[in-house]
Amino acid sequence: MDITGTSHSFYGNSRVLLEGAIIELTARLDLMRSWWVANGERDPISYVISRVKSEDSMREKLRRRGLPVTLEAALNEINDGAGVRVVCSYINDVYRIAEQIRNLSGVTIVCEKDYIQAPKPNGYRSYHTNLVLDLDVMGTVHKVNAEIQIRTIAMDCWASLEHQLKYKHNVKNQSVIVDELRRCADEMATTDLNMQTIRDMIRAQN
Ligand code: GTP
Ligand code: MG
Repeated sequence: MDITGTSHSFYGNSRVLLEGAIIELTARLDLMRSWWVANGERDPISYVISRVKSEDSMREKLRRRGLPVTLEAALNEINDGAGVRVVCSYINDVYRIAEQIRNLSGVTIVCEKDYIQAPKPNGYRSYHTNLVLDLDVMGTVHKVNAEIQIRTIAMDCWASLEHQLKYKHNVKNQSVIVDELRRCADEMATTDLNMQTIRDMIRAQN
């Protein structure tokens, strides 16, 4: 199958698998949160958002990667057709959630990228987990690729604003803007560390 047009039928019935993976992963995260709260613990998650990659964006990514623009390639070769973003309060919470995702049954971790320990040159920070979820549909198990991005509120704030600023503007060669964005990311990372320290100090008193 080779679908290169721009109609909204690229995913066809398979869209339900990407949506299903998001529903399943989000439900597992919701259950973790309820479990912690029910046990009188702090909920480390601030909020969770998700999306199925738009068909245009999927086609663009397949072309950019030099892959055939087919549904098969989209489902098998691209790891973020189903995307979930977990926004946490503190840096330590990010690693705690990453650990819990590793523990989920029916989930195989494909790769993890720690852009917190090793930020991207532009200052982008986040923890990325790429996984394959066993999605059971009426007894048939479908292997669905998904990407979970885990970050703090500060990292999410920076990434959202940077994404907005980059959108429709080529800032690649504007070194002042690049430097300023990087500086903001570093300042927000410092604030994240300070907030973690404050939290640890308060917890030590209780
Ligand atoms: P793609 O970037 O999606 O082609 O795949 P990749 O394998 O290079 O993954 P990478 O870890 O670089 O990034 C995957 C996703 O992380 C992106 O789709 C974005 O959602 C997010 N991301 C990565 N880098 C940046 C960045 O510099 N700024 C922002 N705002 N988001 C980023
Ligand atoms: Mg990338």
